Amino acid sequence: AVSAAEFLPEARDLDSLARAAAGCRGCELCERATQTVFGRGPSAARLVLVGEQPGDQEDQQGEPFVGSAGEVLNHALAAAGLARDEVYLTNAVKHFHWEPRGKQRLHKKPPSRAISACRSWLEAEMAAVAPRVLVCLGVTAAQAVLGRDTRALKTRGVPFASEWCERTIITWHPAASLRARIDGERERIARELAEHLQVAAQA
Ligand code: URA
Ligand code: SF4
Repeated sequence: AVSAAEFLPEARDLDSLARAAAGCRGCELCERATQTVFGRGPSAARLVLVGEQPGDQEDQQGEPFVGSAGEVLNHALAAAGLARDEVYLTNAVKHFHWEPRGKQRLHKKPPSRAISACRSWLEAEMAAVAPRVLVCLGVTAAQAVLGRDTRALKTRGVPFASEWCERTIITWHPAASLRARIDGERERIARELAEHLQVAAQA
């Protein structure tokens, strides 16, 4: 199986991990992406927020959640009374997976072999940060992290114990708010995301 495991450094602090991840060739996603987008944030963070995979902007800038979804997330964090630089932000998969659509690079769901290949990085990040709460941003991210048939996938905003963290919460992916087409749906998702982040901050 493809795996990032052989690229993991001996030193497991976040800086060493990020440096090593920059050279990861654990699966084929590295071939068409610009760079590894490793997690960002302090190792003392109480919250780890995990998304699905970097998008086009993140791929170019090398930082998670710096595009339009990141803007929604920033607002939700602020509404929950959290500073962006006090949480650790990362993704289940560290390279951008895309297909061309005209001049655009369209986001494609990460293949499951990339999700399993990339798991070693997330495990190392979780070990380095040892957060009080793990927040999965969206069901796709939650499935990538927790597995497909997690019963908790049905319930957003309610903490439960997972193999990763004593307090795990699934909430909305911030991009879900941007995609919403029904009146009021955008606001509702953004509001619930902020509420769930507040629950996480207080858990
Ligand atoms: N969507 C994600 O899931 N992660 C990012 O970093 C950006 C957008
Ligand atoms: Fe390595 Fe993950 Fe990138 Fe695959 S997606 S090359 S496992 S960092």
